[in-house]
Amino acid sequence: MTKKSMFEKIRGAVKSTGFTVKQSAVVTLSFIISASSFLSAENPSVRTFIGRLLLFLLFFVLVILFTGRRLSLPGNRHRTEAEVILLSTLSSVFFIAVFFTGNISMFDGYMPVSIVLPTALVVMLVSISMDSRLGMVVALLFPTGALLSGAVNIEAYIMAVASGASGALSLRKARRRMDMVRAGAIIAGINVITVISIMLRQGCPAKFYPFIMFWAAINGLVSGMLVLGILPVIENALHLATTFKLIELLDTGAPVLRKMENSAPGTYSHSMMVASLAETACNEIGARALLARVGAYYHDIGKIDHPEYFVENQKLYNKHNELNPRLSATIIRSHVKLGIEKARAIGLPTDVISFIAEHHGNSLIKWFYNAALEKEGQVDREDFCYPGDPPRSRESAVVMLADVTEAATRTLEKPTVARLEKFIDELFKDKYETGQLAESALTFRDLETIKSSFVRVLVGFYHSRIEYPKLSKPEAAGGV
Ligand SMILES: [Fe+2]
Ligand SMILES: [Fe+2]
Repeated sequence: MTKKSMFEKIRGAVKSTGFTVKQSAVVTLSFIISASSFLSAENPSVRTFIGRLLLFLLFFVLVILFTGRRLSLPGNRHRTEAEVILLSTLSSVFFIAVFFTGNISMFDGYMPVSIVLPTALVVMLVSISMDSRLGMVVALLFPTGALLSGAVNIEAYIMAVASGASGALSLRKARRRMDMVRAGAIIAGINVITVISIMLRQGCPAKFYPFIMFWAAINGLVSGMLVLGILPVIENALHLATTFKLIELLDTGAPVLRKMENSAPGTYSHSMMVASLAETACNEIGARALLARVGAYYHDIGKIDHPEYFVENQKLYNKHNELNPRLSATIIRSHVKLGIEKARAIGLPTDVISFIAEHHGNSLIKWFYNAALEKEGQVDREDFCYPGDPPRSRESAVVMLADVTEAATRTLEKPTVARLEKFIDELFKDKYETGQLAESALTFRDLETIKSSFVRVLVGFYHSRIEYPKLSKPEAAGGV
């Protein structure tokens, strides 16, 4: 086998796991570190050692399945590089802790070693930076790995699972950073209850109770405080869109949004309206409404430097009248790229940047394409397509639909509810038929829900402009 084909084979095998080569390298490294927790187990026989190693390997495959894209989040979203790095690092931190604490025996062996394991800390970080369901998976899998490696006994395992699970559950509704301190207190309480039951079961001497309970409580409280301190560092280093980060980004006083309001007021009000439409629809289909709102706020920041080329900011004069269609298309297309650059410069999370990159997908700028065709006879279609990718998440697809709906319904004369419905139907159909929704995992049922939610929001917004069908007299009177 030549060197090249060997390399291609490895690449193919790596690809089939759903990871990139870089992600696989990080995962492998974390496996090696994690497997070192075996060293902490007391001299097992060769057979026991092999048995444990096989079990641990099985466990790690499970972790890979859960952290890889196959069993990933709803919406077919791929795990980002940052998420894989974070998960692998946390797994290494956890197993290094197992390695160092494996032989600790205090209070005559009555203290479960997991009192010093950072299970809750790791689970809380996963829950906040990714999602609490994955946090729950980690709360079960990591202690299971430690148990299989023989480094912790069943009591320590129970304690670690209880501590981790309470970490995931206590953060499900967290919206403020201070909620983490409250979560720390809840974990402390659960830890204390768990160690009491373990001590009762083991017949632990009464003199050890206060000390063991004290350490169990400290584990919870310190976890909460450490998360509070570590999270901003992780958010910034890995550009993660945690709930807390997204809530900060809701502030319309941010310099870039202020600038948009001043120099591109049409784009600003368009973005706010897209945000309302997208947030309502995402709430109704069970997608991340907060992420969609923030994504909508920032989706058109690439227009800020040349607002006069975009229709929503033009009052009397259309700048494109003096340009040839090819140049016009180039300017329109560029707002996606400029937006991404601006977003990177101000350190927006990767998940928010994807709204900028995907809100037009790779769709055609029809108006200028047709104008160029007419003028030049033959043109390259590619030159008139947006340079982005079609949305890869449900939230991003909803913002794409809200964007096109908001822009198009502005121009709708004499809107009625029926006309709005038909109009939106056509806009959705166009996006669907041109393949813009293919990667987004939106279902037909979702599309129906989104449509009716858009109509409702727009009817509320354009209330004074909506023409209601005139009813004949008996109907108006509530008759037949
Ligand atoms: Fe745009
Ligand atoms: Fe837009």
